[in-house]
Amino acid sequence: MKKFDEALYRGKTIDCSKAAAAGADPLAIDGIDYIELYVANARQAAFFYCQAFGFTPIAYRGPETGFREAASYVVRQKKATFILTSALRAGHPIAQQVMLHGDSVLDVAFTVDSCEQFYLEAVRRGARGVAVPTLYEDEHGPLKHASIAIYGHNVHSIVERKNYKGVFWPGFVPYEDIFPKHTFPGDVGIVAIDHVVGNVELGAMNTWVKFYQDVLGFKEMLHFSDKDISTEYSALMSKVMRNGTGKVKFPINEPAVGKRKSQIDEYLDFHNGPGVQHVALITGDILKTVSALRNRGVQFLKVPKTYYDEVPKRVGTIKQDLAIIADLGILVDRDDDGYLLQLFTKPVHDRPTLFFEVIQREGSQGFGAGNFKALFEAIEREQAERGNL
Ligand code: FE2
Repeated sequence: MKKFDEALYRGKTIDCSKAAAAGADPLAIDGIDYIELYVANARQAAFFYCQAFGFTPIAYRGPETGFREAASYVVRQKKATFILTSALRAGHPIAQQVMLHGDSVLDVAFTVDSCEQFYLEAVRRGARGVAVPTLYEDEHGPLKHASIAIYGHNVHSIVERKNYKGVFWPGFVPYEDIFPKHTFPGDVGIVAIDHVVGNVELGAMNTWVKFYQDVLGFKEMLHFSDKDISTEYSALMSKVMRNGTGKVKFPINEPAVGKRKSQIDEYLDFHNGPGVQHVALITGDILKTVSALRNRGVQFLKVPKTYYDEVPKRVGTIKQDLAIIADLGILVDRDDDGYLLQLFTKPVHDRPTLFFEVIQREGSQGFGAGNFKALFEAIEREQAERGNL
């Protein structure tokens, strides 16, 4: 095998003084390029996302390709791409992140038209740069990358890949170059990442709302007060930030004072600070997606059967068969624009931190506000079982 090119991994710093003049909107985002999770065991995590969630492994970088710092597996389902990365040695910064947070999302990357322009504009407006614009290039073309800090230890990578033709990133090889061909059970109908939710500390929500507004040019799309999102025991507040094209939506939650420890406090406690609470995956057929996920052992939050007594009155007529929806335990909500169907997994790690949402939108661009109470009561039942309520 050809030796891994260390220079390729380090890349070449781009001279930003030569960046082309800013286009109409230097902060335009084409979509979420990928989500990277730092995990204790990337090989097993990749297997889990492929076997249980319907992803397919597409690319790899690690010791077998001559890269001796970490192992990264890229898995994809239509437009949803995850990278699972783990350190190979104690003391590596990735290992330290995993020690602090457990397995968690560290990077929500944007695809942009110009990495330099985006980075320069974001930093000019007050973003803290983590990685300066850097050029990576192999025989498949150039790829440019930079990153900026957000809450906790998280970052947004800024990826310009319009001229790159390789499998994923310079230095990554196709998965099957290294691992034996294996047929995973195949996709479950997930087509893209719909939104990514962050949990931040009490009092920090508005700081991050302002960051997304002032620095990245997002707009506040919706907000929910502690009155909207409360149960007998606890409450939280949430504001939803959306970029100009509407392709990227980031709700940000903070705990509110309640009688007991809220689910956000439980998260902040076990995650050791702010981080990504859930990633919503969009499907065009939630009945198919949820039954496939259930068959493969993915565990979902349970809503009581009585939830479905109110559904016909609350949401009116929908295309899907309500009996099947109830059988699969899917939640339904309606707003002025239409309706949506959604369901939440239990945390996917041992720590009560990251979970996933499966969502189907039939017109509604909301987040299921009508389900909040039933949902948070379900979360609190789980929290009580863990002894954290
Ligand atoms: Fe969500």
